[in-house]
Amino acid sequence: MKVILYMAMTANGLIAKEDDDVWFVSKNSWKSFEKLMKKCGNMIIGRRTYEISVKDGTFPYSCFNVVMTKQKIENKWGDKVVFTNKKPEEVLRFLKKKGFKTAFIGGGGTLNASFMKEGLVDEIYLDVEPVVLGKGIRLFADSDFEAKLRFIEIKKLSKNEVQLHYKVVKQLFRHKQN
Ligand SMILES: NC(=O)c1ccc[n+]([C@@H]2O[C@H](COP(=O)([O-])OP(=O)(O)OC[C@H]3O[C@@H](n4cnc5c(N)ncnc54)[C@H](OP(=O)(O)O)[C@@H]3O)[C@@H](O)[C@H]2O)c1
Repeated sequence: MKVILYMAMTANGLIAKEDDDVWFVSKNSWKSFEKLMKKCGNMIIGRRTYEISVKDGTFPYSCFNVVMTKQKIENKWGDKVVFTNKKPEEVLRFLKKKGFKTAFIGGGGTLNASFMKEGLVDEIYLDVEPVVLGKGIRLFADSDFEAKLRFIEIKKLSKNEVQLHYKVVKQLFRHKQN
């Protein structure tokens, strides 16, 4: 199964402010994000991103929503939402069993890192917003991985924003073990 990670970020690689504010994410980027998410038919998010989305009224998304958490959270959303404590690889197997061909990873930084660390991400889309921030939440939380990327495409989302599309080079993937 193909795994796509899609994030909007500042020019210095932050996906939100320290207080989770994402004011810098443009409408164009949201539209593009939603389009690909709907095409994939699913989205995997971390528990913090879930809680923020509930607060701002965007949850559940118009797709099959998988929320990863080690906590027991009551599902009051129906059968389009699943809370799971499965490992990243198991989550992908679960989605494959449900008939999805592509898994869509929708953040945040901790969740992104846990999939990268296992070498499970095939493609990365990054919408680069014309903003830098001194503090904030990183695209990938601190984690022990290294990956090479191959450039696929650059798209202009607006006069001021670009979308980078990369393939993760799996053969060169090395996860350093201490
Ligand atoms: N700019 C963008 O495109 C974009 C997109 C999405 C999110 N965001 C931002 O990202 C921020 C949230 O990122 P974050 O790093 O703080 O949190 P996060 O990744 O959304 O959530 C972290 C939590 O998810 C669960 N989790 C993550 N990986 C897991 C794994 N492998 N197995 C089991 N559970 C796992 C854990 O929940 P438990 O603690 O419950 O076990 C963990 O504490 C927010 O500010 C949000 O606005 C930005």
